[in-house]
Amino acid sequence: MKVSDLRGILQYVPRFREKIFVVAIDGEIVASPNFANLLLDLAVLRSLSIKVILVHGAGQQIAQLAAERSVTISNADGIGITDDATLKVSLEAATNVMNEIMQGLTSVDLRAVYANAIIAHPAGILGGVDQLHTGRVERVDTKSLHLFLNEGIIPVIPPLGYDGEGRTFRVNSDGIALEVAEAMQAMKILYLSASEGVIVNGEIIGQLSIADAEEFVKKKRTGIEPSLLSKLEHAARACQLGVARVHLLNGLHDEALLSEIFSHEGIGTMVYSNEYQQIRRVFKKDVRAVMALIRQSVDNEELVKRTRTDIVAHLEDYWILELDRNLVGCVAVHVYPEQRMAELACLYVSKSHEGEGHGRKLMAFADQLAAEKGMKQIFALSTQAFNFFQQKGGYAEATPDILPPERRKKYDAGARNSKVMVKAATPASAVETSRA
Ligand code: ARG
Repeated sequence: MKVSDLRGILQYVPRFREKIFVVAIDGEIVASPNFANLLLDLAVLRSLSIKVILVHGAGQQIAQLAAERSVTISNADGIGITDDATLKVSLEAATNVMNEIMQGLTSVDLRAVYANAIIAHPAGILGGVDQLHTGRVERVDTKSLHLFLNEGIIPVIPPLGYDGEGRTFRVNSDGIALEVAEAMQAMKILYLSASEGVIVNGEIIGQLSIADAEEFVKKKRTGIEPSLLSKLEHAARACQLGVARVHLLNGLHDEALLSEIFSHEGIGTMVYSNEYQQIRRVFKKDVRAVMALIRQSVDNEELVKRTRTDIVAHLEDYWILELDRNLVGCVAVHVYPEQRMAELACLYVSKSHEGEGHGRKLMAFADQLAAEKGMKQIFALSTQAFNFFQQKGGYAEATPDILPPERRKKYDAGARNSKVMVKAATPASAVETSRA
């Protein structure tokens, strides 16, 4: 880590201070050796005055205890049926997990309480089958949770709920996290499980808008395990209900929490409802930052040198991509209305965000913008990135003869000898929306 990274990290501190984060930990993670690291991460969050509510699962411990006792259980994760024997094992297993969490939190000097905050009701008869002791959250006792949080105490919520008639229910912890976050107006839910987040073609999908997440769930994309799909579904729903961001993280990773919370790009999959990623116009106040961003690339002769005056003179042509309000990339679209052609120029993505699909996104944006402005074709001049334009953007190589005369003159006067790439400008509906 560089000291300058601290700027990025510290930027989050005032944004998160005094906010409520619901951290939902699968039983498997509590049992893992990495739990000790997670405890340290929780201590960091607390030291920054982030209000933490811990929700835990017990699926693994329930299955294990049942095996030890040779009890056949009807279900381990609190989504299926809970019969008498399963409830009995679940109570004991959940108590053991709670105990381990309490020990752990105390060992890092965090104060915690076992919070009886879930008022449950029976899940009832689903598809003709009585779910028995499986419950649903009816109400969250927000008053007592706030009381604890205001005293700096971490409420720990087990995957159980009680009703007014003295009955106990087994409740799925993902659902509890969602209900608690909604009722407490939490800023975030962080789901820690043993899976890596949503992976497609071997790559973690860093972020999904609510609509994208719902689409994933609907299509039941193959290769995504059912438990993760259920978390994704909960994540989309939580965002609909006002939680700004829900994160699916691999709790087996050292520093999973901190890396996700204090970096711009995170390490898992985030579903978001608030502004995270945007392409916006460049204002005068941004010009200095844009010049700093592209400097390296200008030095390497990838991009044409631009002075501040050049940029300011065509300010309305310049656009930037921001991740959590941080400048990540830029692009310019210059139009030649007479020829109905646009030029894509100054495309750049910061080194620290390479390989995340931002270049493609900016390229698609420029393409769309050109079409919106009524241009028929878009061209780019490139000394080093022509492969990228061809492979990712569908550009084809052309000769300088296609350039608008005004641009051609400049081209001939310069010594860059760039390749000319061109394609038809594509209106919005035809542009594949990038998920990266
Ligand atoms: N650190 C920021 C947050 O906690 C952004 C995290 C982005 N994570 C991601 N997987 N894209 O809100």
